Amino acid sequence: MEDAYIVRGGHPLKGEVQLSGAKNASLKIIIASLLFDGPVAVANIPHIGDIEDLLRLINILGGEARFIGRNEVVIDGGGIRQDTIDLLHASKTRVSFMLFAPLLYRLGQASIPNPGGCRIGSRPIDRQIAFMKAMGIKVAYDEEDGYYKAKLANRIKGAAFQFDQVTHTGTEFAIMLACLACGESTIGNICQEPEVDDLIDFLNAGGAKISKKNDVLSIQGVDRLIAKEKYRVSSDRNEAVTLALFALATKGEVYIKSIEPPAIQTFIDTVKKTGAGVAINQDKIHFFYDKALQATDVVTSPHPGFMTDWQAPWAVLMTQADGVSTIHETVFENRFGYVEELAKLGAHIDYFEPSVTDPEKLYQFHWSDRQGDPPQAIKIFGKTNLHNGVLYVSDLRAGASLLIAASVASGESVVRGASVIDRGYEAIDKKLRGLGGIIKKV
Ligand code: EPZ
Repeated sequence: MEDAYIVRGGHPLKGEVQLSGAKNASLKIIIASLLFDGPVAVANIPHIGDIEDLLRLINILGGEARFIGRNEVVIDGGGIRQDTIDLLHASKTRVSFMLFAPLLYRLGQASIPNPGGCRIGSRPIDRQIAFMKAMGIKVAYDEEDGYYKAKLANRIKGAAFQFDQVTHTGTEFAIMLACLACGESTIGNICQEPEVDDLIDFLNAGGAKISKKNDVLSIQGVDRLIAKEKYRVSSDRNEAVTLALFALATKGEVYIKSIEPPAIQTFIDTVKKTGAGVAINQDKIHFFYDKALQATDVVTSPHPGFMTDWQAPWAVLMTQADGVSTIHETVFENRFGYVEELAKLGAHIDYFEPSVTDPEKLYQFHWSDRQGDPPQAIKIFGKTNLHNGVLYVSDLRAGASLLIAASVASGESVVRGASVIDRGYEAIDKKLRGLGGIIKKV
């Protein structure tokens, strides 16, 4: 296998698509399942690389986790005995760090290396560590082996805590720790991504007592969690945005089923600014190319803003828009890995540094800790005709944007790094063929 996609682009993609379950909800719900007494069944789990890596890691630790149907998994943490995660398996996914929650509750101690994830920035976990300490957990970083090591002196106690900056997995990790703690926890400045709501709904269905008011969580610790029925994960809103952009960038149209508009409202509003069409029907959203696209500026931010995962695919749409558009990335410090690749197809994109009065406040990452001087914004000059080429994927969402670019470009393109794309998108080639795309994996 070449680990590549061959794409013949240059024609509109049109049709209807059923989304897969949300990767960034499924990963956390699977980990949270390990907090339950007894087995937990979860439906609508995407069959993708990230999930398979996590299930494999859970089995290595002694738990049971496997697919029992195309998109249903059963998880049981009862057999977990290993309190240390090896570097190879921990480095495969950013969420490995979240296993501290079930390991501490089950074994009273755990050692986990600094997490991996996509190469889109340093991605430290200082906020997660601060929360653990607020809960009375003894946790320290061992410079010798690069592991975080935590040990419970006594039962985890609820606490009042305020995140200094929003963190998506940090918020979810805090919820997992607090839901079984002794007493109440109040957590402020939480991340409000819809995937967090999915995790809260899942845990409350198992007996947790979690309530959310704007960006504050109140959690009353309970003694145990038990699954009463199978839980179904929500659809993947990042996939919805990606597929909408495949259709719009190729001057086509797509009907996307089972996505709630509020989960992608800012995306819908921004698409309308370009002059493209959006119609909200009963159970699907219709995105359609209507007339020449207008350049439209974007600044990424946590929900309900324009999500950082959407900006790479969005950049390709802007190469097809008339005028100069900008993307200002405020969540990660190195998320333009796709720009050089798009330039190979004829895109005209320049980096620039927007003037920001208070960068420490605006940016979600530690501004003062940036390595080198990665650019935080790009200018996209459109409309440019894209031609075919050979492309290399740097991270998951950049990979999707390269597939979109290859679908826009006339001729046959090669996108190397199919397995990186398959980490986060279930059967993307099959879905694109369903829209008239000419794509095959080699
Ligand atoms: C989650 O990453 C998602 N991953 C990302 O999706 C998503 O882009 C991101 O949230 C924002 O919504 C998963 O859910 C598995 P953060 P996460 O903690 O939790 C810095 C995809 O393609 N930070 O909100 O790692 C951090 O470096 C992936 O599906 C600290 O400095 O994001 C980043 O710059 C990509 N210290 C920013 O904050 C901390 O302790 C936001 O990070 C924690 C985070």
